[in-house]
Amino acid sequence: MQVGIIGQGYVGLTLTAFAAEHFDVVGFDSNQKIVDQLNLGHSHIEGVASTLLAKWIKSGQFRATSKGSDIKDCDILIIAVPTPLAIDRKPDLTFIESACKTIGQNVSKPVLIINESTSFPGTLRNFIKPKIESYSPTQIEHAYAISPERVDPGRSDFNQKNTPRLYSGLSLEASEKTRDFYSKFCDNLVEVSSPEVAEAAKLFENTFRQVNIALVNEFAQIAHSLGISVYETLDAANTKPYGFMKFTPSAGVGGHCIPVDPTYLAAIAEEHGAPATFIRRANEVNLEMSKYIVNRIASDNGGNLQGKSVLVIGVAYKPNVADVRETAAELVIEHLRNQGAVVSWHDDVVGIWKGDNSSPLHGADIAVVVTKHDSVDEKKILESAPYVFDTTGTVRGAQGL
Ligand SMILES: NC(=O)c1ccc[n+]([C@@H]2O[C@H](COP(=O)([O-])OP(=O)(O)OC[C@H]3O[C@@H](n4cnc5c(N)ncnc54)[C@H](O)[C@@H]3O)[C@@H](O)[C@H]2O)c1
Repeated sequence: MQVGIIGQGYVGLTLTAFAAEHFDVVGFDSNQKIVDQLNLGHSHIEGVASTLLAKWIKSGQFRATSKGSDIKDCDILIIAVPTPLAIDRKPDLTFIESACKTIGQNVSKPVLIINESTSFPGTLRNFIKPKIESYSPTQIEHAYAISPERVDPGRSDFNQKNTPRLYSGLSLEASEKTRDFYSKFCDNLVEVSSPEVAEAAKLFENTFRQVNIALVNEFAQIAHSLGISVYETLDAANTKPYGFMKFTPSAGVGGHCIPVDPTYLAAIAEEHGAPATFIRRANEVNLEMSKYIVNRIASDNGGNLQGKSVLVIGVAYKPNVADVRETAAELVIEHLRNQGAVVSWHDDVVGIWKGDNSSPLHGADIAVVVTKHDSVDEKKILESAPYVFDTTGTVRGAQGL
């Protein structure tokens, strides 16, 4: 049984690491550099060990490719390509379309096609299936299913094996084949009645996080205006054993999921004439957090940041990963610069960002912690500037939300 995984990023390569134990895996990626690195046994994703990859390559259970024809003998194809927002902040399905093109043009026998990329309800039925059919020179009856990925990169307690996985096929046969495939390496498979339910559940999970993060970000501002500690208040509320779930405030949300997926849900809702006001407003509150933080820092420093050197500590979107997609650090830096600050950043996990190297962790007038990696010493953060503002609630002794 040969499995082709289209897209070898966070989702695709993580899946490769588990699937290669049971199947021959062809990892197709349009980025030749990634393909070359993978074939040398070098992983670019946290949580996927290079040693494991090298082992699968040596045993012939995995190889990476950027040649579409290399997927022609696969029995199962999994789509794991980006689903970002376009410039107008609308869903951008161009990567999915190009994955469909690769499949349509290269696969000439009936196979099982599973989409793991996050998208709005109806994507499998009304976009992926017709696109693949339109790119295929002959009519082929493929089986289609969805199984949205829930991986949380950098996390060690939940992985492909113990995270329950939703799935649903466009046909009974597709559902059964999908179950057979994932059951080799996933302990808990949850079938839902239609692909649309699985697609919607994935979006709603991340929208739930987005809305609750926005709520706590708004509450942080309320707590500060009342002169009470937001953290102590949240800990107090969290003593209630039911009906409360603790979220913590931050400089905003980042990564490929929380700032993006809710907008996919809002877009499809509005297309169907349903309101998405709550989701839209939550997005705004999270985006506005960076401005609020910079205004707080300015107000603590005489109301003016003109010419002050400000070191932003942690530019990854979350601790212990090098992923900077949609990072809140970007907006914090933009607002600091708008107020005349001279901004540098420190993040040894990220290393290089937008062509610049991470700056040393000292010598600034002001430091602002946006993301706190475990490897960064708390004492060094406090010594990096006479004034330190911590947006993470983890640096004791710093100013904060
Ligand atoms: N990163 C996460 O934590 C996470 C979690 C759950 C779901 N998802 C979803 O999974 C999907 C993939 O996200 P990701 O984080 O793995 O993205 P990624 O950017 O890390 O990886 C995507 C890979 O696909 C490749 N690619 C792009 N277009 C391609 C094409 N047409 N053919 C072949 N390869 C192509 C890119 O070169 C890249 O290596 C998205 O829909 C995302 O929303 C991501």
